Amino acid sequence: MNRRPIALIVIGMIAALVMPALLAAVKADDAKHSGHVAVIGTGMMGGAMGTRLAELGYTVTFGSRNPDSEKVQTLLTTIEGNATATTQDAAAQDADIVVFAVPWSAAESVVKGAGDLDGKIIIDLMNPLIVRDFDDMEMVSTNTSVGESVQEWLPNAYVVKAFNAVGFHVVTDPSKAGGPVTIPIASNHPDAKATVMQIAEDFGFETFDVGPLSQSRALEALTHLYMVAYIEGRMEDRFEYYFRRTP
Ligand SMILES: NC(=O)c1ccc[n+]([C@@H]2O[C@H](COP(=O)([O-])OP(=O)(O)OC[C@H]3O[C@@H](n4cnc5c(N)ncnc54)[C@H](OP(=O)(O)O)[C@@H]3O)[C@@H](O)[C@H]2O)c1
Repeated sequence: MNRRPIALIVIGMIAALVMPALLAAVKADDAKHSGHVAVIGTGMMGGAMGTRLAELGYTVTFGSRNPDSEKVQTLLTTIEGNATATTQDAAAQDADIVVFAVPWSAAESVVKGAGDLDGKIIIDLMNPLIVRDFDDMEMVSTNTSVGESVQEWLPNAYVVKAFNAVGFHVVTDPSKAGGPVTIPIASNHPDAKATVMQIAEDFGFETFDVGPLSQSRALEALTHLYMVAYIEGRMEDRFEYYFRRTP
C-alpha cells in the first residue's frame, strides 16, 4: 500500500490543528505593539528609533522642522512599515507614545511646543550635550537631569528615560555590539516603564530597571564619559561601552 497519501493527510491534519494557534500567536505579538508613536527629530537617533518602532508594528509619525526635506523623505523610503512625517507640533497629537530625539539646546522649546501630551508615554533619550560644531561640543552639568526636566515641563505625561546611553547604530542593529546589550531604564511610572522595556526587548536588547526618573542623572553621566574623546578632539581615543548583564 502506498503510504505517501496517508502521510500527506496526517501532515495536513497536524497543520490544520497547529496553524490557528500559530496565527493567534503572531496576532498577539502584533497586538503587543499596535498604536501610534511620534518621533520628534529625524536625525541619527530619531531615524533609528522610528525605523525600529515601525518594524515592530507601530504607526510612526516623525515630527520635523522640515518634513518635506529630501533628508526626511529619504528616511521614509528606507522604512519598512507605516511611517509619515509632519511638523513637530502636529506629530504628537494622535500619538500614544512620543519620543523626543532633538538636541538638548532645543529640548525645552520643542517639548513645550508639542501640544497637550497629558496621559501619553514620553521616551526621553536626550543627553545634556551642546553641539556647536563637530569639534566644539560641551556636556552641561546641572543639579538635575534632562529626564527630570522633561517630566517637569510635562507634569501629566509619563516620562521614561531610556536609550540615551546607546549609540544610534546599535539601536539600528543591536548585533553590532558583538554581544548582548542591556538598556537601563528609569521612570516614576511603572506601566509606562513596562511598555518601554517591552519595546527595548523586542528591539533585541535586554533591559534593567534602574528605578525612579531621578536615576536619569546617572544615566546621562554615562554619556559624559562617552563624549570625552569627542569634546577633547582625541579621536584616536574614541570608545563605546555597553551595559551587559553579568553572565
Ligand atoms: N547619536 C546618538 O547615537 C545618540 C545616542 C543616544 C542619545 N542621543 C541623543 O539623541 C538626541 C538627538 O541626537 P542625534 O544624534 O540624533 O542628533 P542629530 O542627528 O543632530 O538629530 C537631531 C534632530 O533634531 C532636530 N533638530 C535639530 N536642531 C533642532 C532645533 N534647533 N530645534 C528643533 N529640532 C531640531 C532635527 O530634525 P529635523 O531636521 O527633522 O527637524 C535633527 O535631525 C540628542 O539629545 C542626543 O544626546 C544620541
